[in-house]
Amino acid sequence: MKIAIIGTGYVGLVTGTCFAEVGHDVICVDNDKSKVEMLQGGGIPIYEPGLEEMVKKNVEAGRLRFTDSTNEGVEASDVVFIAVPTPPQPDGSVDLSFIEKVAREIAGAMTSYKIIVDKSTVPVKTGDKVAETIKRYCQAKVEFDVVSNPEFLREGFAVDDLMNPDRVVVGVMSQRPVVAMKEIYEPFKAPIIVTDINSAELIKHAANSFLALKISYINAISAICEASGANVTEVANGIGMDERIGRRFLNASLGFGGSCFPKDLSAFIAISDELGYDFALLKEVQRINADQMSRFVRKITDTLWVLKEKKIGVLGLAFKQNTDDTRMSPAVELCNRLAAEGAELRVHDPKAMEKARPLLPEGITYVDDMNDVAEGCDALVIATEWPIFTELDLEKARKSMSAPIMFDGRNLFDPQEMEKLGWTYKSIGR
Ligand code: UDX
Repeated sequence: MKIAIIGTGYVGLVTGTCFAEVGHDVICVDNDKSKVEMLQGGGIPIYEPGLEEMVKKNVEAGRLRFTDSTNEGVEASDVVFIAVPTPPQPDGSVDLSFIEKVAREIAGAMTSYKIIVDKSTVPVKTGDKVAETIKRYCQAKVEFDVVSNPEFLREGFAVDDLMNPDRVVVGVMSQRPVVAMKEIYEPFKAPIIVTDINSAELIKHAANSFLALKISYINAISAICEASGANVTEVANGIGMDERIGRRFLNASLGFGGSCFPKDLSAFIAISDELGYDFALLKEVQRINADQMSRFVRKITDTLWVLKEKKIGVLGLAFKQNTDDTRMSPAVELCNRLAAEGAELRVHDPKAMEKARPLLPEGITYVDDMNDVAEGCDALVIATEWPIFTELDLEKARKSMSAPIMFDGRNLFDPQEMEKLGWTYKSIGR
C-alpha cells in the first residue's frame, strides 16, 4: 500500500517505519524542516530501542522517505495517517488545532479518493469533525473516507508493540475503506476489530484510563499494605494470577506519568463532562496518583527530617524505563519537589539526562556513571524502573554515603536482602 504519515513524533515515526518494514511504501511528513533534514540524514530525534536500525534499513530499501510537504505526501499515497500531537489545554480538554490544521492541508492537497486515518489520540466524535472539515476545504470535491485507528504502543517497547499488536482497532463510517485497512495490517497477523468510528475513538481513552486505574488501584493497596504490614508485591502476585485481573500493570510505584496516561485521563474526564457524565471514578484515579507522589516525598522527609543541604542521589529521570522521554515524568517531579525543599541533588539516567535538564532547577549535579551517584549522599532514591539499576554496585554506594539509606520508588530491590546488606531500605507498600 502507498501510505503517508503526517507527523513524525513517537507514534508517526514508529508507525511509518513498521509499515515500511512489512513492505508498504511509506512517506513521512513533518512541518519541522530541521527534523525532516535530520531524518533524511539518517538521524533519529528520539531514543526508542530498535528504531534507528529499522529506519536505516527501510530508507536504504527505498520503502521509507521523509518530506516537509503535505502535498507531496498526499499525492504519493492512497491512505493518509494523521499522527500529530493532541496536547492538553489548561482545563484538561484536548487541543485539536493540529488535527484541524492537518485536515485542512490534506483536503487542499487531495485530487483523488483518499482514506484519511486518525492515529492521534482524540476525544470521541473527532472523526465527524475531521470529515466535515475535509469536505468543507476540499476544492477538488473528490470522495474520501475518514477512519479511526488508535495506536496502543508503549514508549520504550514501541517497535515491538507495533510489530506484534494484541489487536488492531479500525473505526469506520462506511465499509469502503475496510479492505485497504485490512491490507495494511494483514502482515502484522493480529485480530482486526472493525467497528464504528465513535467506538474506536472511545476504545483508546477507555483502554488508557483503565490501565491508569489499575496502577492507581495497586498504589492505593500499597498505602494499605504500609499501614498494615502487608507486602504489595505479594498482593499483586496473588490477585494477578486470577486471569480476569492479570498481573501486568500492577506494579506499585511513586505514580504513573508520561505523555499519555495523565493527558488521556484529563481528556476523558473532560469529554465525559461535556457529554453530561461526571466520571468521578477517573478523578479519583488522578487523586490517588498525586497522593502517591506526596506519600513518597513524605517518606523521605519523615526519615531525613530537614532536606535543606542534604545530598540526595536520584537514579532515573525518564517517566519509565527504556526511554529518554521526560514529559510528565514522576522522577522529574520528585527532583523538583526535593530541590524545592533545599536538597542538593546528584542525578543519573541512562538516556534522559539531556531532556530532563531544562525541566530541572539550576545547581543539580548530573552524574555519568550510575555507580558514582551515591558519592557523599545522605540518601539514594530510585525514581525510574530502569532494569540496569538492579545492577548497581550496592557495596560501593553504601560505603560512599554518609548513611546508607535508600528510598526505592519502583520496588527494584528485595527489602530483606537490602537490610542484610546494611541498608535502611524504604520502598512502596512493603
Ligand atoms: C501508555 C499505554 O501503555 C499505551 O498502550 C498507550 O498507547 C500510550 O500510553 P506509555 O505512556 O508509553 O504507554 O507507558 P506505560 O508503559 O503504559 O507506562 C505509563 C506510566 O505508568 C509510566 O510512568 C510507568 O512507570 C507507570 N507504571 C506502569 C507503573 O507505575 N506501574 C505499572 O505497573 C505500569
